Amino acid sequence: MKTVETLLAVEDVTVEFDGFKAIDSLNFYVDKGGVRVLIGPNGAGKSTLCDTIIGRVRPRSGRILFRGEDITRLPEFRIVRKGICRKFQTPGVLQSLSVHDNLALAARKTRDWWHAFGRDLTKAERERMEDVLALIGLADKRDYLPSQISHGEKQWLEIGMVVATEAELLLLDEPTAGMSPQETSDTADLIRRLVGRHTVLVIDHDMSFVEQLDAPVSVLHMGALLKEGSIAEVRSDPEVAAVYLGRIEDAAAA
Ligand SMILES: Nc1ncnc2c1ncn2[C@@H]1O[C@H](COP(=O)(O)OP(=O)(O)O)[C@@H](O)[C@H]1O
Ligand SMILES: [Mg+2]
Repeated sequence: MKTVETLLAVEDVTVEFDGFKAIDSLNFYVDKGGVRVLIGPNGAGKSTLCDTIIGRVRPRSGRILFRGEDITRLPEFRIVRKGICRKFQTPGVLQSLSVHDNLALAARKTRDWWHAFGRDLTKAERERMEDVLALIGLADKRDYLPSQISHGEKQWLEIGMVVATEAELLLLDEPTAGMSPQETSDTADLIRRLVGRHTVLVIDHDMSFVEQLDAPVSVLHMGALLKEGSIAEVRSDPEVAAVYLGRIEDAAAA
């Protein structure tokens, strides 16, 4: 008997850019409630998959189901309203707003426009902001501007903004880009604390970070799944070593 529920199903999806298959007949399933990691070398199609899930890129064929509902052709804002939120690889904070106000804005983004302006936060929303500030470790810096916090803290603010939307499925595309080893390890802790309240799809290529997440891993290569399993299984797979680890080491040496 199946005990876990599938939250997201990517079924036989192909995405083409000028005839080039960035995603090639991909089948990919994310279970409700946990963390799932998607790794793969540069150009594997990881960000394209994210773009396709969120409705920014349209697949040539195949379909995407969220909670069993076909969302393949919905516009991005409707997919967001259904409960999927994406953190971009590039920073998305507003420089003129404090840490707290960036979070408050994110919390309102998915609402109707008349709720987004000219209304104070409700008690429940204020409590939620406190939870998120504590989660991302920025409670003491709530009144700082983004320019006054470190690069790592800015990344946490962005994760906090995604969390503040209360979306069920969070897509984090390279959340540790440019972070120190300590910040990377703190980020893994942060993501693990999201489990239960959210389902998190983490995209990265930093193996030590992936190891700390201790979650099931899917390896994408040339737009298709190469391997799925625990981090140990993935690490010991010769094919993965050849196409993924090999290339990463080449890249590091270059
Ligand atoms: N908008 C686009 N137009 C043309 N080619 C693209 C576009 N976006 C991505 N690609 C190509 O698709 C492939 C996958 O890219 P991407 O999804 O960004 O990989 P990853 O995130 O795994 O590094 C790459 O070869 C990239 O050059
Ligand atoms: Mg990418």
